[in-house]
Amino acid sequence: MYHYVTTQGGQRSLYGLRILEIACGKGAAAYLLKQDCGAAEYMGIDLCPNFIALARDNFRNMQGVQFYVANACELPVKFDGYFDMVICLDAAHGFGGEQGVFNAYDSLFSSIHKTLRPGGLFMFEDVTYKQFHPELHAASKLVAKGGLEILFEEDLTPHIAWPEQSMQSAPIQSCFYIVSQRTDFDDTY
Ligand SMILES: C[S@@+](CC[C@H](N)C(=O)[O-])C[C@H]1O[C@@H](n2cnc3c(N)ncnc32)[C@H](O)[C@@H]1O
Repeated sequence: MYHYVTTQGGQRSLYGLRILEIACGKGAAAYLLKQDCGAAEYMGIDLCPNFIALARDNFRNMQGVQFYVANACELPVKFDGYFDMVICLDAAHGFGGEQGVFNAYDSLFSSIHKTLRPGGLFMFEDVTYKQFHPELHAASKLVAKGGLEILFEEDLTPHIAWPEQSMQSAPIQSCFYIVSQRTDFDDTY
């Protein structure tokens, strides 16, 4: 999934890119993006300090890899305009907490927009839950509202082998994939 989403099914090279991963967990994607795909820099952020501590430990010997504890919806100003690509996989549905799945999307997308250089790409994959959000395409409307231009959308639902057990405990309805781009050329930074 990571390779498919970040390279748009093998169509995009990651070579030499500065990549920010939102909600990186323990940072396993750094191997693929930095080592295998040749990204120049990989930065992973996650809200969970324990995950970031483990990631730092695992990657302490890899050049050009950094991890920070940060909230995806309030990214530090020092990241502004820096990244060629921001990625977020299988995570944003949890950012709204008990308020609901899409609650945090507004602040998430404007936060991501700021961190991208003009022309930079946001590769986004997430799942939605039946009880919260029946409309797949509402996600892309929210991405666009955050100032990003949608380049490509795909419904990945038919390609996912949904585990029987998780369908019973949390009925996932759909999995979507959106590629968007920062197209404004703001000269204030
Ligand atoms: C389901 S895991 C996905 C991890 C990884 N992207 C993957 O696909 O393996 C969700 C991650 O989101 C992180 N997370 C939850 N809320 C967050 C927030 N507001 N900002 C940053 N990370 C957050 C959690 O700590 C967790 O590591």
